[in-house]
Amino acid sequence: MCGIVGYIGPKKASEILVDGLAKLEYRGYDSAGIAVLEGGKVVMDKKEGRLKKLADIVEGKFSANVGIGHTRWATHGKPSDENSHPHFDCSKKIAVVHNGIIENFHQLKEELKEDGHQFDSETDTEVIPHLIEEYYNGDMLEALQKTIKRLDGSYALVVINQDKPEEIFCARKDSPLVIGVGQGENFVASDIPAIIQHTKETIILDDGEIAKITKDAVEIMDLPGNNVEKEILKVDWDADSAEKEGFDHFMLKEIYEQPTALRNTLKDKFEGDKVNLPDLNIDSEYLKGVNKIAIVACGTAWHAGLVGKHLFETLLRIPVEIDIASEFRYRNPLVDEKTLVIVVSQSGETADTLAAMRDSQKKGAKVLAVTNNKGSSIARESEFIFHTIAGPEIAVASTKAYTTQLMGFYLITLYFGQLLGKEMPKELYDGLKEIPVLADKVLQNTKDQLDKITAPFDGWDNSFFIGRGMDWYVSQEGSLKLKEISYIHAEAYAAGELKHGTLALIEQDIPVVAVATQQDIYDKTVSNIKEVKARGGYVIAVVQEGDEDITHSVDEVIKIPKVPSLLTPILSVIPLQLLSYKEAVKRGQDVDKPRNLAKSVTVE
Ligand code: F6R
Repeated sequence: MCGIVGYIGPKKASEILVDGLAKLEYRGYDSAGIAVLEGGKVVMDKKEGRLKKLADIVEGKFSANVGIGHTRWATHGKPSDENSHPHFDCSKKIAVVHNGIIENFHQLKEELKEDGHQFDSETDTEVIPHLIEEYYNGDMLEALQKTIKRLDGSYALVVINQDKPEEIFCARKDSPLVIGVGQGENFVASDIPAIIQHTKETIILDDGEIAKITKDAVEIMDLPGNNVEKEILKVDWDADSAEKEGFDHFMLKEIYEQPTALRNTLKDKFEGDKVNLPDLNIDSEYLKGVNKIAIVACGTAWHAGLVGKHLFETLLRIPVEIDIASEFRYRNPLVDEKTLVIVVSQSGETADTLAAMRDSQKKGAKVLAVTNNKGSSIARESEFIFHTIAGPEIAVASTKAYTTQLMGFYLITLYFGQLLGKEMPKELYDGLKEIPVLADKVLQNTKDQLDKITAPFDGWDNSFFIGRGMDWYVSQEGSLKLKEISYIHAEAYAAGELKHGTLALIEQDIPVVAVATQQDIYDKTVSNIKEVKARGGYVIAVVQEGDEDITHSVDEVIKIPKVPSLLTPILSVIPLQLLSYKEAVKRGQDVDKPRNLAKSVTVE
């Protein structure tokens, strides 16, 4: 959420900053800005709206070799030029970019105003350069240390000071920052795509750390100023992974990457016929002592958790609670040392999920993180990790992260079953290995049907997704995709629940996507579909191959390959992703950057 880039070295900073911000625009696109050290002064340009506006203004304008940049997702203060980052102090010598929220900014602002500071924006961030100015006495480290002590809330912040033109300072708490280590040049960013084309050597800043970056060195200190030795981590994917590679949108590319992402996530996880997850580092003694699992996540990751709950309860018979992280953290949940908390997070930085995880650890629980980001806060602070190998997900709407999270849940369930000495269904082991190939087949089969299955949505701003059990969980994910990128309201309903009120909203030709892949409850779902048809709904059904009867009950049919019912979500979601994508394109929406949203929600 919000993107940060900083550069110091021999090259033109403004070009590197704008280029880096372009890679981070998915993190926020309300405004963008840069500040560079040009001719001994800090010079700033910032503009409400997409990065392109800023890029046009700064093109060819600067020759500076040091600078910081920001792309904003508005929290405090509406999107405007004034509220865009960077922000200045009074002397206009110190410029700051910031991600996160300064909770006590109001009080700090009043205090600073009393001391004569004047503010130009409504943001919480602006108090930071003013505090630094207040504390600066020739020593940036000291000024930053004193400033940080005054801040409540979360921050990833990067600072330049006209009096220290050879240095960039940065600090973090609860918001990610990564330093890119180059040859005679160094970088800082909120996320790797911004810097990967320049270097793969990275240092991940931890909470409570401050970094002083020059073109030749990176010094990391803790809050009191002691040096901290940090490991240099090599990024294991390359710049191409963060490019569209001929696809019209990142979302489409990422949908099509699913067979590979699933294959990569499956790789080396089987030993003969059994699942082996040694990296998980969980032993059977610990697991036997677990009396409850709590799954906690947000959005799409939470939808993956719903499938996880179903798998654990069906196959392991362990009670599972599932919560949305922002609810879990404030409801004083019943969690103790016998609870295994599973957090699911693509980015590994979602603020609510991270907070829920920390609260659970305080209560004595151990945490298993299912995450796509090995270097993230969630990955580093959890006791156990399952790493989904989806590669970078740039589109705001999550696709390959979801299916690889599902893959994670299947593997974890089978592995736990083995550790607990339970008999796990052989068909699941066999079926899982086939999933990447079958996912590819679904992509190919659905491709040609897209015009037909999106036509019923023409002229509609409302729709329904229905299903039972696993199909209902997938319906929730399908409806979220449609809402977030095409802006069509989509209500996901348990098919059997419709008649308890929502059926009143079914009218002639309203589009209803019905997922009916669960064999044991298939007839029940078909009855619910008939109830919808009887009220005039236009039904597009997702069913398994071999289901010929469904054509008599619905208007359009999408078929996925036949697999055991427990495995269908990982395939049945793919047509729903494609449907949402196609519909959003048809409506001319900005697919990769839907309005009001941003990737990686690092604020509450
Ligand atoms: C929807 C979407 C979001 C994320 C949610 C959690 O397409 O992407 O709902 O799933 O913000 O993000 P992570 O997984 O990064 O914690």
